[in-house]
Amino acid sequence: MSFNYPLLLVASDDPYPTYKWMRDEDPAHYSETEDVWVLTRFADCSAAFRGWKTWSSERRGNLLNDIPERVGKTLGTSDPPKHTFARSIVNKAFTPRTVANLQPTVRTLAQKLCTQAREAGAIEFVAAISAPYNAAILGAMFGVPEQEFIQLRGWLDDFFKREKAPAGEEPRQVVAMRQLRHYLSALAEQRQTRPGEDLMSAMLLAEDGGQRLAVEQVIVTTMTFLTAGFESTNNLFTNLAYALALHPQVLAEVQAQPELVPAFVEEGMRWDAAAQGFVRSPTQDVALHGKVIPQGAQVLLHIGSANRDEREFAEADRFDIHRPDQRHLGMGQGIHFCVGAALGRAMAQFLFEELLAVSTRWDVDLSAAARVTTPNFRGFVRLPLTIN
Ligand code: HEM
Repeated sequence: MSFNYPLLLVASDDPYPTYKWMRDEDPAHYSETEDVWVLTRFADCSAAFRGWKTWSSERRGNLLNDIPERVGKTLGTSDPPKHTFARSIVNKAFTPRTVANLQPTVRTLAQKLCTQAREAGAIEFVAAISAPYNAAILGAMFGVPEQEFIQLRGWLDDFFKREKAPAGEEPRQVVAMRQLRHYLSALAEQRQTRPGEDLMSAMLLAEDGGQRLAVEQVIVTTMTFLTAGFESTNNLFTNLAYALALHPQVLAEVQAQPELVPAFVEEGMRWDAAAQGFVRSPTQDVALHGKVIPQGAQVLLHIGSANRDEREFAEADRFDIHRPDQRHLGMGQGIHFCVGAALGRAMAQFLFEELLAVSTRWDVDLSAAARVTTPNFRGFVRLPLTIN
């Protein structure tokens, strides 16, 4: 077989026909050039997400070619019992109430940004809406001025890059991780001496069985919150904005019936997943579809493909906000299911309710748009949009 899955296929305009070919012809694919296995069928990905005993997140991390500085330290890159303890602390610090308390801020911000966008008419979606919206919400969560968080964005963007550095230079993702850590260590020190109402203080103080999370772990967990809160949300919002431009009949429907926005957001998460895949590594050899995935291998659970699997979803390629069962893997599954799912959904719903309420047109200029070029995620870093 000559096909080798390329890591940046996710950044092409339409990777979905290739995913379909992989599901049909080579559902447990090994890419020799990238040294990664790729599972593309819903049933296989779902079983692996749920089967943490066989499918470790700690062995190779959960991002493609994950950086050793992260592996085993973050929530997403640890297995039970380490994960169970850290997740229980996070669940105590970041509760449904935290999300409910944030909702009025989120709604007001969405209204403000959308009114400004309507006045401008033509906007660059990421700079005008997504970035300030995410920064302000994360700022409110962590008690940090919005402007400071905007500055962090450059590091967060670099953090997911997987480019090879020129000889003698450090890769950008390693430099970014160090800078972020430096910033967050200083913040953690402040919060230790003067705890506040913010999420970092709550994570430092929360206990499970009389034990607290080590400061180092609070720092790396905060890093995960920041990367998810900036990047995953931006990818979701930009994919949703693009999906509306591609489907005028859906646009007309959600404009006429705003109560359909949650269903639209959910279908958007399935149809063009912001997180296209996460890595697991088998703790033993696994026989699948006539092949043997060796223990310790790097295996990509391809959410982007699984969400379009026609074995699971009728007319999987159709963007249909009326699907009776909107089950998908866009927020993961099992013990690592997204911590920020409720917040991410609320942010997307409020934003699109407000934006659709003020828009009369919805034109995306694809010629001036730019896609995210990181291997685990799909979305836009630049998306010009005209709404009136
Ligand atoms: C809205 C778009 C979002 C998407 C599409 C998304 C997607 C995901 C997915 C697929 C996972 C599973 C990772 C794995 O299994 O290895 C995950 C985990 C996680 N997400 Fe999200 N996420 C989003 C927003 C957020 C937000 C806003 C936050 C924080 C405020 C967040 C925090 C996390 C954390 C901490 C984990 C790790 C959980 C664990 O390993 O136990 N996410 N996310």
